[in-house]
Amino acid sequence: MVMGSNNSYYYYHCSMCSSMFLFLFVFGNGMASAQLSSNYYASSCPRALSTIQSVVNNAVLKEHRMGASLLRLHFHDCFVNGCDASVLLDDTASFTGEKTAGPNKDSLRGFDVIDSIKSELESICPGVVSCADILAIAARDSVVFLSGPTWTVQLGRRDSTTASLSSANSELPSPFMDLSDLISAFSNKGFTATDMVALSGSHTIGQAGCVTFRRRIYNETNIDSSLATFRKFNCPPQATTPTSLHSTPPPLSSLTTLTSRIW
Ligand code: HEM
Repeated sequence: MVMGSNNSYYYYHCSMCSSMFLFLFVFGNGMASAQLSSNYYASSCPRALSTIQSVVNNAVLKEHRMGASLLRLHFHDCFVNGCDASVLLDDTASFTGEKTAGPNKDSLRGFDVIDSIKSELESICPGVVSCADILAIAARDSVVFLSGPTWTVQLGRRDSTTASLSSANSELPSPFMDLSDLISAFSNKGFTATDMVALSGSHTIGQAGCVTFRRRIYNETNIDSSLATFRKFNCPPQATTPTSLHSTPPPLSSLTTLTSRIW
């Protein structure tokens, strides 16, 4: 794990873990029905997968963190009423969506990349490829681009026409939950504690705001002290200036260095 370039973030990266397989297996198969298939778009939109991969690769090349952000976007979609792209929906007169939920607001990223993919797909095969499938493939392609493992994504998910702020607030795990609450949150979605630990390996890529781990490094004692000291360097005990969660990420050179760091 290596420091980020500003005082509100730390950056973490490693070779991607097998937890990705688990995540996509459970969400890709367990929450969806039997008609999903990996070649769902073979005849209806044969260039779907290559189009998605191309946009993802360009986006992650431009900003490596985007790979982590797209992976998280898929997780936050799937954890709230399944992998149905509900996370992408803006508020309407009839519902308040998930974008402004505590774990998502000023934090979840990658919407523009998904919009670009959708727009390209609409131009080559209008109305065919679901956003839920785009999110799932984009997460996989991001991990692959960052030198992680690959897996087969089952396709044919349908997009939701509604979203729920309250479900997002109550079902997504918070960084302030204790272990038993975290285990419960994952158990509610069919995951064991072992699954949860494996999936948490996803945090070996990406960034987090200081506010999400300040309490842990300053107030708690059951943490590796050298790690806490290391983190304090870029995370002051009190917030100084308001920090945007969308600050400029570390330069590419530092991210490249991080790819060989394993925790
Ligand atoms: C165990 C429960 C989890 C909690 C409490 C949690 C919490 C968080 C928090 C607080 C952040 C930082 C957000 C910010 O500062 O803007 C984060 C980032 C991230 N999370 Fe999780 N998360 C959990 C599980 C997962 C899972 C299951 C995945 C994927 C399979 C995942 C993938 C990521 C990624 C890739 C990032 C970095 C995103 C970026 O840099 O844009 N997380 N998570």
